[in-house]
Amino acid sequence: MPYNFDKIINRIGTNSVKHDMLEKKFRKKDLIPLWVADMDFETPDFIINGIKKRLEHPILGYSVKPDDYFESIISWVKRRHNWNISRKTIISTTGVVPALAIATLALTNENDKIIIQPPVYFPFFETIEQNGRQIVENPLKVENGTYVFDFEDLKSKIDKDTKLLMFCNPHNPVGRVWRENELRELAQICLDNDIIIVSDEIHSDLIFKGNKHIPIASLSPEISQNTITTIAPSKTFNAAGMLSSVVITENKEYKKQFMQKMSDLHLIVDNVLGTAGLTAAYQHGDQWLAQLIDYIEQNYVYVRDYLANNMPKINLFKPEGTYLLWLDFSELGFSDDELQAFLINDAKLAMNPGIWFGKESGSGFARMNIAAPKAIIEKAMLQLHNAYKNRH
Ligand SMILES: Cc1ncc(COP(=O)(O)O)c(C=O)c1O
Repeated sequence: MPYNFDKIINRIGTNSVKHDMLEKKFRKKDLIPLWVADMDFETPDFIINGIKKRLEHPILGYSVKPDDYFESIISWVKRRHNWNISRKTIISTTGVVPALAIATLALTNENDKIIIQPPVYFPFFETIEQNGRQIVENPLKVENGTYVFDFEDLKSKIDKDTKLLMFCNPHNPVGRVWRENELRELAQICLDNDIIIVSDEIHSDLIFKGNKHIPIASLSPEISQNTITTIAPSKTFNAAGMLSSVVITENKEYKKQFMQKMSDLHLIVDNVLGTAGLTAAYQHGDQWLAQLIDYIEQNYVYVRDYLANNMPKINLFKPEGTYLLWLDFSELGFSDDELQAFLINDAKLAMNPGIWFGKESGSGFARMNIAAPKAIIEKAMLQLHNAYKNRH
């Protein structure tokens, strides 16, 4: 069945962070929201129907996760990523960011060092700092127009207090889908230095043609034993408000410590509607997802060509997955404040400032969310072009 991603849906007044928080965050209302990572497409009918079906029973009391919940996750990661996992490796959380925080608390001690690879999703910084751990930055570097790992820098920064790598694959915001050789080298450095990998794979279903997502834990039994992975249907199916994510680890000790921390915080609870939605998503999502990826990829090609033809001073890093574009505005010569003022006041666009993702590595950049009907992306490009023409 063909789904309609062109449909424009008014989300204003629905308590949407992306739409209803514009004024609070950007001090203006009439902006095209291209910031928060959710999509302006309908959450697919099979998820809504899964939730409706649960609502046919009139009681929403305390619940446990049913068998088909676990089966749907096991089948999904096998179908999508050829990853074999068993039920006993699965833990449920209310979100991926909460899972990163729980892993930090469960597996490290105060003042321990945790590696991140900026520019990277800003809650990585927050979950470490707010929990009294130290951030070690191992910035990605650009080689031949592509972001890659800097292994020499990584090795030089590891010491006895370095306990964990908070890893992002596919990478938000640069859009890399890390290749097997890159993953193997990274994983080996972690194994050699007793560094636990916490792998945020929330974007792993959003992979463009010609690329393949490899769960880092699927590379070998040894790497699997050293890894905690997080996934969720939230980005994939535009259902972040369901608050249903999944943590996977084969390491029994990590699982025990993680569950203990959840128990300490009284977080071992079931969200009945989220569970119904997640199960439906992973049971029925393949066809919808294939169409979604095609649509997003077409939006990407449109933005790429539009920029190349009309705004050659804005440099776009080629994404291999996700629906987030990492745009380099540095040739325009703005400071970071001026860049945001240009985007907000001149172009009337709300994009995430690059410096949220890394003070140095994100300077001169902005992140653009292209998961919206094509007409909205076209309008955004036109507004950006008009603003650009006035400056150049
Ligand atoms: C890399 C990454 N991790 C986690 C999240 C959010 O996860 P959650 O809403 O499940 O906490 C996002 C959302 O943008 C993300 O990009």
